[in-house]
Amino acid sequence: MCGIVGYTGTQDAAPILLNGLKKLEYRGYDSAGIAVVNDNNISISKVTGRISNLCEKTNDGQLLPGNLGIGHTRWVTHGAPTDTNAHPHTSNDGKFAVVHNGIIENYMELREELIDNGYHFESQTDTEVVVHLIEMYYTGDFKLAVMKASERLQGSYALGIVCADEPERIFVVREASPLILGVGIGSNYFASDVTALVAYTKNIIYLEDGEFAEITADNIQIYDCAGKPIEKRTNRITWDIQAAERGGYEHFMLKEIMEQPRAIEATMSPRLQNGEVHLDDLDLSDDYLKSINKIVITACGSAYYAGCSGKNTIEKLCKIPVQVELASELRYNEPLIDEHTLLIVLSQSGETADTIAAMKECQSLGAKTLAIVNVVGSTIAKLADYTLYTWAGPEIAVATTKGYTTQLIVMYLFAIYAAKKLEKISASEYKELIEELKSLPKLIQQVLDMNPSIPELAKKYHSSDSMFFIGRNTDYAVALEAALKMKEISYIHAESYAAGELKHGTIALIEEHCPVIALCCNEKMTEKTMNNIVEVKARGAEVLAVTFKENTKMASLADDMIMIPKVNVLLGAPVEIVPLQLLAYYVAKENNCDIDKPKNLAKSVTVE
Ligand code: F6R
Repeated sequence: MCGIVGYTGTQDAAPILLNGLKKLEYRGYDSAGIAVVNDNNISISKVTGRISNLCEKTNDGQLLPGNLGIGHTRWVTHGAPTDTNAHPHTSNDGKFAVVHNGIIENYMELREELIDNGYHFESQTDTEVVVHLIEMYYTGDFKLAVMKASERLQGSYALGIVCADEPERIFVVREASPLILGVGIGSNYFASDVTALVAYTKNIIYLEDGEFAEITADNIQIYDCAGKPIEKRTNRITWDIQAAERGGYEHFMLKEIMEQPRAIEATMSPRLQNGEVHLDDLDLSDDYLKSINKIVITACGSAYYAGCSGKNTIEKLCKIPVQVELASELRYNEPLIDEHTLLIVLSQSGETADTIAAMKECQSLGAKTLAIVNVVGSTIAKLADYTLYTWAGPEIAVATTKGYTTQLIVMYLFAIYAAKKLEKISASEYKELIEELKSLPKLIQQVLDMNPSIPELAKKYHSSDSMFFIGRNTDYAVALEAALKMKEISYIHAESYAAGELKHGTIALIEEHCPVIALCCNEKMTEKTMNNIVEVKARGAEVLAVTFKENTKMASLADDMIMIPKVNVLLGAPVEIVPLQLLAYYVAKENNCDIDKPKNLAKSVTVE
């Protein structure tokens, strides 16, 4: 979703802004622009399409000299992706320029009011009202104008604002949209996320909702919504620039798939010590745990599918009923939730608008919330009663891979930890589960090493219009995510089906050469799923089976096979999904798709 970045210091601003915007490309965008202030003048450059077009148009920023500026990548909400609708937007007198991430919900009424007051609009965006409001309230005091304009806004916004009359300072405002400040030496920054700043500084301040800040080259002053100066802690981030770069891989997605053994190890090992699960960051009393009579997991997209796998494990180990709900539906379902419900919220970015809304709804009904989140200091992490981070490092590719598998790992840790506290598993089961959990990074590495044929399989299957992913029980939960991976990056229609449901309708769609990816890694389900394979083969399907290597019967049944090592079904999803992430990746590559930035998708979906 939209990304914003800003800089002031001793260097030329434009190249730094362009570089920051490139790092934000992964969030998804359709146009981009920068504004640089120089000699009481604001120069603006905007383009539709890629940042590379903006680099070309500005000669890598050299055509916009000046030491202070703001930049933006736009993901369409209001108005088509055109140069005019791209940010920054300027006031009618040309004194102010604004970049905005979020949605101004009351923009229609503000627009009418501003038009009545003689302001004219260039764009169809909601953002343009912000810059005209600032002009309307400006009587020589930049800070006051920003405060007065912000008071009029409803919705979500992270704003960066510059003023030609005051070329030494930038104001930024945050309300329900991510915004961080970067502290440098003789230079300061802001951005919608750390990846845009990590090349310049590791000292970060997280702005909270309702706060705003004045940024000059030598100082950052933060204010509360009443304009009172406040002090905030500077946090040191541990990500380095390599973590946010491709490191020799053709795509971030491939790099992130390959990083999974390491990401899982990093998520797990600090929490597994001396044969015990330690969740020091989770301060749940035994009495509270015993009082939980229902767990609801909520999330969107892949995180929701991680929840579907997590349900199996938590329910089986803890013997507590678990319900998995799409966040975008949960809040409208009048959920039966009270103080005995634990809400588990899964989110890589920690900023997904639907997930935040569902979480607030459940909190208002009395549920305690446990967030499983990757981005430190994100909105969901802050809103939750308890937060367990998935230490996956920055995930840049829009399609999640290590974000999803590390969410699974944290749910497994939680399930084993809670099952022991609730005395639902024996000491020996506990010990065994921990040993199996510890072996996952090695098993995933084996999957990565033992399937060199996946690029060849992609060549065989990439030209299909449609694919079906089938499986039962734990395999079905993984099939849901596998089909999403395939469709979002290769644009091939891919559907996941509980294998037992085929006969209730879908089998009518299986015809000659239709690819069916059959997940068959749950030993208890093997016979039944293999019967389903016989049925689809009888209708001419080409079957690619994913199974454990001991399943020797599969060789005579399936057309192609992907082998994985045998693993406890309650912990198996991260092992089983990896070859299917690779399959989606190589199919998309065969089809020349923009793998890291699939069309119409955004990394962080901050609008509902
Ligand atoms: C798919 C994907 C999305 C996200 C979903 C939730 O590959 O990445 O489906 O899983 O948008 O995002 P987070 O986890 O950031 O809340």
